Amino acid sequence: MRMGRVLAAVALGCGLMLSACGGHGEDKASQMLLGAPKTAGDWSRPGRDLGDSYYSPLEGIDADNAGKLGLAFEFTGFKIRGGIHYALQSTPVMQDGTLYFSGPWGEAYAIDAKTGATRWIFDTKADGQYARNACCSVSNRGIALADGKVFVGSLDGYLYAIDAKTGHQVWKSDTFVDRHWNYASNGFPQIAGNVVIIGNGGGDMGSRGYVSAFDLKTGKLAWRFWVVPGDPAKGPDENPDVTAARKTWPADARWDMGLGGNAWAGLAYDPETDTAFIGTGNGGPHPSWLRSKSGKVMDELYLSSIVAVNAKTGRVKWHYQEVPGDNWDYAATAPLVLANIEIDGKPRHVIMQAPKNGVFYVLDRDTGKLLRANPYARVNWMTGIDMQTGRPRINPEAIYRDGPKLVWPSGAGGHGWAPMAFSPRTGLVYIPTYDAGMRLSQITPAKFVPGHINQYAEGRFPPFSKEDLAGRPQSKFEGRLTAWDPVANKPRWSVTLPTFLGGGTMVAGDLVFQGSASGYLDAYDAASGKQVAHIFIGTVITAAPMTYELEGQQYIAVLAGAGGPQGGAFMPGVAGFDHENYQRLVVLKVGGGAIPLPPKRKPPVLPPLPKPIAASAAELQRGQKLFMDNCSRCHAAGGSIGIYPNLWMLQQPVIDSFDQIVRDGALSNAGMASFSDSLSQADIDAIKAYIVTDTINRRKGIVNGPTGLQSQTH
Ligand code: HEC
Repeated sequence: MRMGRVLAAVALGCGLMLSACGGHGEDKASQMLLGAPKTAGDWSRPGRDLGDSYYSPLEGIDADNAGKLGLAFEFTGFKIRGGIHYALQSTPVMQDGTLYFSGPWGEAYAIDAKTGATRWIFDTKADGQYARNACCSVSNRGIALADGKVFVGSLDGYLYAIDAKTGHQVWKSDTFVDRHWNYASNGFPQIAGNVVIIGNGGGDMGSRGYVSAFDLKTGKLAWRFWVVPGDPAKGPDENPDVTAARKTWPADARWDMGLGGNAWAGLAYDPETDTAFIGTGNGGPHPSWLRSKSGKVMDELYLSSIVAVNAKTGRVKWHYQEVPGDNWDYAATAPLVLANIEIDGKPRHVIMQAPKNGVFYVLDRDTGKLLRANPYARVNWMTGIDMQTGRPRINPEAIYRDGPKLVWPSGAGGHGWAPMAFSPRTGLVYIPTYDAGMRLSQITPAKFVPGHINQYAEGRFPPFSKEDLAGRPQSKFEGRLTAWDPVANKPRWSVTLPTFLGGGTMVAGDLVFQGSASGYLDAYDAASGKQVAHIFIGTVITAAPMTYELEGQQYIAVLAGAGGPQGGAFMPGVAGFDHENYQRLVVLKVGGGAIPLPPKRKPPVLPPLPKPIAASAAELQRGQKLFMDNCSRCHAAGGSIGIYPNLWMLQQPVIDSFDQIVRDGALSNAGMASFSDSLSQADIDAIKAYIVTDTINRRKGIVNGPTGLQSQTH
């Protein structure tokens, strides 16, 4: 079967692209991919082929003309709630002249791929209250297309199957098992044979991670893979894999915390062996010693692992744990790329990942054997990996149990969720890389709070103090594009990005494309890293671009819009800092028109000073602490330029409606959820008094705190 499929792909690839076949060995290239679309111009899955390589053989856009990319059309018809524009993180799929993609709440869009005209919009009408369960803001990482249906997960945990032609719902299934946990669904569904699989977010929030599989036709639940065991007092283990995993956990584990492991991205499928691959999440709470009453530390399967499961049953075939007993938020949820490459003289069916822990892994996906492992970013949590056992040697220097420690990579990871492309032409993998460390400390005691971040570790980004550095060089805080050679196990080239945050990567022929938070879409020669285009669109790009061809015209499409964990406060250099942020799909072609830029931000017009609220110093301090704990992950203290309203510029009528907003959830549809489950009336009063008093004090120059910049741990 493998041979037949490869030959078919070669024949079609050559027929359509003579130059590619002659000049670049496209036949050899296509053998390295799994199930590429039959038509070169199609991009029929999020990562185009079954291995999610984000590679297209199209080469109408090249080093000579990439600089002439201009606007073909723009789509801005997103369903926006309350005027808040969130991050767009999905990669459009193009099939039969239609582009399909998702929006932040899990809405699905189908538009004409030539004109941008709307074909249909499916609004899942996700419950806005679930915005509080999303650690890192409201977002969605994409759709799946199969069997004439578009599949999308809504933030509030439903998986929808939508008729791809009409936009009508075919079925809807509940993916959340237990809504007392802080789940939010922001990942993409993955097609795995006859089922569609999807995980969820919540590892930082307090929840038990799992992946569900639903029948493609009916939406009936087929199986669940549980990443971590559940509370033994609540019932027997769901299956023998859970029992096997339980042996690797302390008997007195904090089952009441959920323990995490949530697989919110990083799902792949190999039809040859009918295997689904699941990249699992970090532990929650983050410090392993807080995940049991005794503080005992164990491996804790299947946290931070790549797990291969039978796609018919969900039962484990093999697993590889990247980080035993994770302490650093090192989820293994990064994209999984499947390819066929030769390693040490042997053709191998590999699975590749550049997870948050900073190490690039290559495994044999049929057996789980570790073939390559080497850091692609600065790493100090381990000092090496035993290639026989696959175990990392954990560095005690990175254990912050007895006091804060500097740890590399930071909680942002060496690489996050953004797609990484693999080019069969160069043999290189293009990793959107973060280079930064983190000053990590624990927060105790750990307890489960609904709708709250429950990670119990705090991370601070560089620069670090001399004392903390203790003779080490100052940490970088930069974004890079790293071209990694998975066979030679080392980087071939890398470029520094204008901002920390780089977007997903995509290869079109001999060029690699990547956007960044700077608002530029860049193109590089994939072999050398030489920049060939630098195109300003004026909006933060974190999604991966894609390319397609219709009627002989090649296009590049990319979704743009800021948000995510960075949405609270844009730093200078980020496009949203000086240009208004809005959700848009930008489609480019060589010789296209001028790209419309969002309006420049105007200096804010200060509202009249609010009416003072009488409160004691102790009350104000309590209000400040409650604000930092509950509100600051979205609204920066002191105000900021970000996606959320600036609470240091409130109009009096809004202050007068504070209870309706914060207690009763009057604005919950747009993501300002009710806090009535965790804050008392006295708490809400204290927060209001703090915001109002601090606003007046800052405006009168009585206090002059820093505004705008906020440290975030993820
Ligand atoms: C998960 C993100 C998030 C958190 C956490 C959050 N908010 Fe909000 N908040 C929002 C969003 C989104 C809006 C805008 C809603 C809209 O436009 O309808 C908002 C709006 C508001 C407004 C109205 C502002 C205006 O000018 O209209 C107030 C007041 C407010 N939030 C207070 C708070 C307080 C107090 C807390 C902490 C107890 C808090 N928020 C926590 C997301 C959040």
